[in-house]
Amino acid sequence: MNWWETDFVAVRDNKLWIAGRDAAALAERYGTPLYVYGKDRILERYARLDDALARHSALPARICYAMKANPHRGILRLLQRRGGWIDAVSPCEVETALKAGFPAERILFTGTSVSRADLRAVFAIDGLTVNIDAAEQLDLMSEIKPEFPSKAVRVSVRWNPGIGRGFNPRVVTAGKRSSDGTPIKFGVEPKKVIGVFARARKLGFRPVGLHQHLGSGWVREDFGLVRAAVDRLVRQAREVEKAGFPLEFLDFGGGFGPRYLKNRAVFPVEDYIAYLSDAVAKAGIAVKALAIEPGKYMVGDAGVLLLGVEYVKESYGNIFACVDGGTFNTVPRPAIYLQAHHEIVNACRVEGTAKARITVAGNLCETGDVFGRERSMPLPISGDILAVLCAGAYCRSMASNFNLREIPREILI
Ligand code: LLP
Repeated sequence: MNWWETDFVAVRDNKLWIAGRDAAALAERYGTPLYVYGKDRILERYARLDDALARHSALPARICYAMKANPHRGILRLLQRRGGWIDAVSPCEVETALKAGFPAERILFTGTSVSRADLRAVFAIDGLTVNIDAAEQLDLMSEIKPEFPSKAVRVSVRWNPGIGRGFNPRVVTAGKRSSDGTPIKFGVEPKKVIGVFARARKLGFRPVGLHQHLGSGWVREDFGLVRAAVDRLVRQAREVEKAGFPLEFLDFGGGFGPRYLKNRAVFPVEDYIAYLSDAVAKAGIAVKALAIEPGKYMVGDAGVLLLGVEYVKESYGNIFACVDGGTFNTVPRPAIYLQAHHEIVNACRVEGTAKARITVAGNLCETGDVFGRERSMPLPISGDILAVLCAGAYCRSMASNFNLREIPREILI
């Protein structure tokens, strides 16, 4: 069995099968490029988190799907029916979640550089919780509040615990600076947290939660730092409670993902849930619910992008599989983040003796438009179908129309 095989993608007769269907037949039927998402895989991921939370914590848990990872309507409906919650980051995401059937009570709006227009839009929705990203955001909130005089809008505070973690400096969302020097814009620094709770209440809002999000794409070796951040959040929650602000929920954010790489041990999600549940129980705080915000974990490996090989080109000794899609329009991650790796499999001949080092080249006018560089795989031929794995999260949602190319069709099976 290959390291990347799951109950969603598997090899049979040296061909790739997706959710029990022949990948090449799906490509033939729907055309390429094509995103294929698997319902069962997503539900399995959800159930795994749900079970772990039920096993380790006596408190009710909220699995808030970070819909920025993939706002496909069918996926949202699936999670809504399971009783999921939503992490939304723009009014349009909030609107989309409501349309998919999520009640406002199950949506947390976590904006950044929030505008007056954003605040007006979210204050108008009864039951929604607004997560505050900056002490200064309260100035705007106080300006808009008089338009909603009789409303005690539910708010929480996104604090920045001072440490963060992600697979790439561009997706570390806590701490002072990223490892590439970028100042980190998210959250309220510790010394301002109590002040934000106090001012929010004074302005007529109803403070109900404390939140953090450290970054995205953790692997096993990040567990130590993540545990330290869990401890910090729990300690801060105790301070908030002591200052006279009882908390309804503590939100640990997202960050854990599927396995993108062969040589990277996956983050131990169940141990993490055990750890945070235990930390909350031991702290003796009176929170009524725990929340996590998985994006990648929920949908990352439940999606595949199918590409058709147009021709194989040889130039200066490089071999290119030239495919019918471009990274920016389909799976932009490898073009944006140096460290982003997506395994690529020839769906028509998974294994073969004549292996070559193939660069999978897209159809855009940009050198960085390669899905994978010098990958060892059987030499493809024109008409083969290549599958880019782990394409369920931050692929369609970050795709653009660069070069005026269309964004591919999506199917959920
Ligand atoms: N909660 C908040 C407040 C977030 O900002 C994010 C992701 C999540 C939860 C979900 O994180 P996840 O479980 O998916 O790691 N475009 C990047 C990922 C950016 C994630 C931003 N925030 C990528 O393609 O890797």
